[in-house]
Amino acid sequence: MHEPLNVADFERLAEASLEPGAFGYFAGGAGDEQCLRENVDAWRRHRLRPRVLVDVGEATAKTTVLGMEVSMPLLVAPTAFHRMVHPDGETATARAAATVGTIMCLSTLATSGPAEVAAAAPDAPRWFQLYVFRERAVTQNLVEQAVEAGFEAIVLTVDAPRLGRRERDLRTGFRIPEDIVVPSVAAAVGEWTGATPLDALSRIDPTLSWGDLEQLVAASPVPVVVKGIQTAEDAHLACEHGASAIVVSNHGGRQLDAVAPTAELLPECVDAVGGRIEVYVDGGIRRGADVVAALALGARAVLVGRPVLWGLAHGGETGATRVLELLRDEIELALALCGCASPEAVTPAHVSRIGGP
Ligand code: FNR
Ligand code: LAC
Repeated sequence: MHEPLNVADFERLAEASLEPGAFGYFAGGAGDEQCLRENVDAWRRHRLRPRVLVDVGEATAKTTVLGMEVSMPLLVAPTAFHRMVHPDGETATARAAATVGTIMCLSTLATSGPAEVAAAAPDAPRWFQLYVFRERAVTQNLVEQAVEAGFEAIVLTVDAPRLGRRERDLRTGFRIPEDIVVPSVAAAVGEWTGATPLDALSRIDPTLSWGDLEQLVAASPVPVVVKGIQTAEDAHLACEHGASAIVVSNHGGRQLDAVAPTAELLPECVDAVGGRIEVYVDGGIRRGADVVAALALGARAVLVGRPVLWGLAHGGETGATRVLELLRDEIELALALCGCASPEAVTPAHVSRIGGP
């Protein structure tokens, strides 16, 4: 086979190389997986509206998020258990993000701690995704570790008070292999091996509410990003409670199946925020053109989850780097062909929706 040329090629290679239960966990979604499919399809229901005779001789994908420079408006979403994908785990992903010049969000459910990941890519900006454990002291310690290790934002995930019902995992009887260690969970519950993702998520505090966000913002020396916003109402509340940015996300279709794809949720959230804070989006982004559509709908940047995992599965750091490079090249090309010399040049007029207003 030729070298993988796009995210879909990497997905096929990952499916061939990963153990079926693990692939099902990474690829799968909740319930009938309608939202999982729709997330991808909804970007394709958008059409770019290119402008011509614009000087794109110096076109660049470079931009900033929370004032931090990145080589493109695409960040690495937090995803759990990278050592199940490749033995180098999160340290390989962190180096890949650093090489390509973007930010990696390290999951609370990572198989390497914040200090180890920071040491792997010391010069790259990095953000830490937080799940608040029932054991609040463990959470506080995790945040301290992350800040100490130079993580420059906390990404609080708010769409998982419980884990969605993942029927693929039930069918395969998927369990996390016994040699996979998750330092944060081990700290919360002591010895923890050979369990399921559901066991891990059952340690997350389902009583978390807006007051907790406000307290976290007050206590945190770094900005707090709220991930998992799906309505205008909550986008507004996130602003009111001190968030520095939101991620419009349905967790990659893994939580509640009966929700809209994020391409459809984005406009109402952008409207509700009204420019007060930055808005990011994730779910189903597989092409550079999807990213440009997201920018046109008002996002400052996107995050990608599975594409990076498919790269990691195929050659560890090299594969993850390649996926991110391919996406950066696609973004640069789509920008230039739309007559946009930079991400900031993208406007709402650069997109239309099939059958939509
Ligand atoms: C996730 N996601 C996630 N989110 C989070 O805040 N903490 C986490 O630990 C995880 N873990 C996780 C594992 C796996 C295997 C996947 C696929 C996803 C959600 C993730 O951050 C992101 O919202 C979605 O992955 C975006 O959708 P795409 O890009 O995968 O379609
Ligand atoms: C998941 C959790 C771990 O989506 O966030 O599997």
